[in-house]
Amino acid sequence: MKILGIMGSPRVGSNSDILLDEALAGAKEAGAEVEKIILDKKKISGCKDCKKCNETGICVIKDDMLEIHKKILDADAIIHSVPVYFWSMTSQMKAYLDRWCAFFDALWRWQKNYYPKMKGKRIGLITVCGDPNTHTADPIVHSFKSTADMTKLTWLGAVMASASDKGDIIKDKKAIMQAWELGKKAATP
Ligand SMILES: Cc1cc2nc3c(=O)[nH]c(=O)nc-3n(C[C@H](O)[C@H](O)[C@H](O)COP(=O)(O)O)c2cc1C
Repeated sequence: MKILGIMGSPRVGSNSDILLDEALAGAKEAGAEVEKIILDKKKISGCKDCKKCNETGICVIKDDMLEIHKKILDADAIIHSVPVYFWSMTSQMKAYLDRWCAFFDALWRWQKNYYPKMKGKRIGLITVCGDPNTHTADPIVHSFKSTADMTKLTWLGAVMASASDKGDIIKDKKAIMQAWELGKKAATP
């Protein structure tokens, strides 16, 4: 069982990072092999909508996303963690998500050769916002959940937390526990 953590904050050791580490610890305790990717340390350009991948399944942009595509295909579950920036996800996470295009054909169906690996793959989300109202992150949840619904991925749910200063989330025991549980769920088919 392989669980891939995708960290979308540019702040390493940040609130999103701490919660993702908790989730990965939960997954590890459930017996999974875990790996974390810090998107800010990778070179990931935006999708060009050139549609070449619709035919080949391979993105023409030769950057770090090509390796991440392979890791996504190999993982049993993927947990994303991202803060709210201007009522939306960070640019790092958006560039990553847009590059999922390479998995689909022109009708937004899985590429035939990817379908066996992507079918039913589990996907979860962690959001952090400065606003005490965690529903500020609803647009991010909508984005990931709609992607899961459209492509028939298994939606694991979202942990939505609130914190501002780097590391403040550590005081939120409920969010820490929920993130850990999300990781455990990801590792439990
Ligand atoms: C550029 C920028 C934009 C932000 N926009 C919002 C926002 O629209 N709503 C909000 O609640 N918090 C906003 N925040 C606050 C962050 O979501 C908050 O500090 C969060 O804890 C950062 O997560 P991190 O520690 O994982 O980096 C913003 C922060 C930055 C740097």
